[in-house]
Amino acid sequence: MLRVAVIGSGPSGVYTAQALVQQQAVPDVEVYVLDRLPCPYGLVRYGVAPDHEKIKSLQHTLRTVLEHPRVHFLGHVDVGTGGLDHAGLRRIFHAVVYCVGAATDRRLGIPGEELPGSRSATEFVSWYSAHPDAAAAGGFALGRSSAVVIGVGNVAVDVARILARAAGDLVPTDVPQPALEALAGSGVRDVWMVGRRGPTQAKFTTKELRELGALPGADVVVRPDELAMDPACGADPGALPAVVRRNVDVLREWSQRPVSPPDGPRRRIHLRFYLRPAELIGDARDGVRAVRFERTAPDGQGGVRGTGQYEDIEAGLVLRSVGYRGVAQPGLPFDAETGTVPNAEGRVLRDGTTCPGEYVAGWIKRGPTGVIGTNRPCAKQTVGSLLEDAPGLAGRELPEDPVAALRRAGQRPVPWPGWLGIEAAEAALGQELGRTTVKIPDWEGLLEAAQSGQ
Ligand SMILES: Cc1cc2nc3c(=O)[nH]c(=O)nc-3n(C[C@H](O)[C@H](O)[C@H](O)COP(=O)(O)OP(=O)(O)OC[C@H]3O[C@@H](n4cnc5c(N)ncnc54)[C@H](O)[C@@H]3O)c2cc1C
Ligand SMILES: NC(=O)c1ccc[n+]([C@@H]2O[C@H](COP(=O)([O-])OP(=O)(O)OC[C@H]3O[C@@H](n4cnc5c(N)ncnc54)[C@H](OP(=O)(O)O)[C@@H]3O)[C@@H](O)[C@H]2O)c1
Repeated sequence: MLRVAVIGSGPSGVYTAQALVQQQAVPDVEVYVLDRLPCPYGLVRYGVAPDHEKIKSLQHTLRTVLEHPRVHFLGHVDVGTGGLDHAGLRRIFHAVVYCVGAATDRRLGIPGEELPGSRSATEFVSWYSAHPDAAAAGGFALGRSSAVVIGVGNVAVDVARILARAAGDLVPTDVPQPALEALAGSGVRDVWMVGRRGPTQAKFTTKELRELGALPGADVVVRPDELAMDPACGADPGALPAVVRRNVDVLREWSQRPVSPPDGPRRRIHLRFYLRPAELIGDARDGVRAVRFERTAPDGQGGVRGTGQYEDIEAGLVLRSVGYRGVAQPGLPFDAETGTVPNAEGRVLRDGTTCPGEYVAGWIKRGPTGVIGTNRPCAKQTVGSLLEDAPGLAGRELPEDPVAALRRAGQRPVPWPGWLGIEAAEAALGQELGRTTVKIPDWEGLLEAAQSGQ
């Protein structure tokens, strides 16, 4: 028997569990998927935007893995706290695979970043996704007419779209009721999404970009002069990667559309390029008022240089969407530069040496890029390494009952029926509010619902 702990139930954790129970080389594998939250699915539940119902429905596929007879989900188990550290886990399991994602945000490192009204996109996503940690961080400054999103990746597109979308569109989704009501009362009319480099270097993908132009109550504004600044926009389209070429086609079409008047009923999403954030302007009492950007120019090598010219964009809310960042795990090596655990094909590296029994997969292994599907081959590679090491791992005697051992280590695990209790409570809340399923946004509510399911 080989007993494996998978830490984290996001895509990489679930794909790791799947690869472990689907393989034939080591038949008698038992997998325990532990998550600090009482709910499974990681960013599929707490990151993928609520209006992306099709991608959200991937939860149904992930669910079949967590319901496999040799896979045991245990929520509300926070590795690194309450007496459960890495060494403790190694005593309970033959092997541990960390699939803990990248829980925090990258920083800009510019003056004014901490002003009230300046928040990370990570926090905003957590808030509209009902992540229980977001409840303590409070709501968002949606009263003023202008909001700036810094960064031009797919997360920036998500948060810009949620700010610009009519809240009524979100009623049929599982958005928590307090966030829905706040978005319904939002005074934001202009959303500025700003990239420090050019349109051909933007990280968003075309399908996601196009959705901005399809919002019924909003217009997208693109400046032709900023497209013209990018040498690659005018180059032979055949020389560009397909996604970049498609993005440029969409942006070019938008740049030729008429712009709705500023005081009209429609919201406006302004896509701006070649503007590098230099400073957030405001004060501690009234919060952020504007973002000061330095105009940049292409340096001919894919990067940019400053020009010494500045432009201020008014903002009552600033969302910094400049990437996620992995968090160091107690007892594991950590590369602070990349925010990942050093590894060789998923095997944890300590001082350059592999450690049989310790593995990583997903964003904590590769860094915070890639879509859900990218985690599948990543997890498979890690499981391949683990299976190669299995003969040297499986013989060790372990405590009979891992759940009892976790309890002794100070944890209060929520097993699968507890999660089913949360699902039932969220369906009931939706019915009560005249909506479909509505997420519970706080720890107390989640743990109470989990209790009712057990
Ligand atoms: C805002 C956002 C939207 C996205 N939208 C899409 C999309 O629409 N389509 C798409 O294909 N991809 C999307 N992605 C990318 C996709 O979500 C990621 O590729 C994927 O979630 C990474 O998987 P992961 O398992 O490494 O991390 P996560 O999904 O982050 O899972 C990590 C899990 O580990 C748990 N955990 C963390 N620390 C501990 C601990 N100490 N103890 C126990 N458990 C712990 C967390 O609670 C979490 O459940 C999006 C990403 C973001 C940030
Ligand atoms: N629908 C979907 O499929 C979906 C939705 C959301 C997320 N995701 C995926 O999740 C991953 C993470 O997405 P993400 O948007 O967080 O990250 P990302 O794709 O890496 O984009 C980060 C953005 O921040 C900018 N940036 C970084 N540092 C900056 C700074 N100091 N000042 C100004 N701008 C800065 C980057 O610009 P530079 O390029 O100039 O560095 C880039 O535009 C991606 O792989 C994404 O595709 C997918």
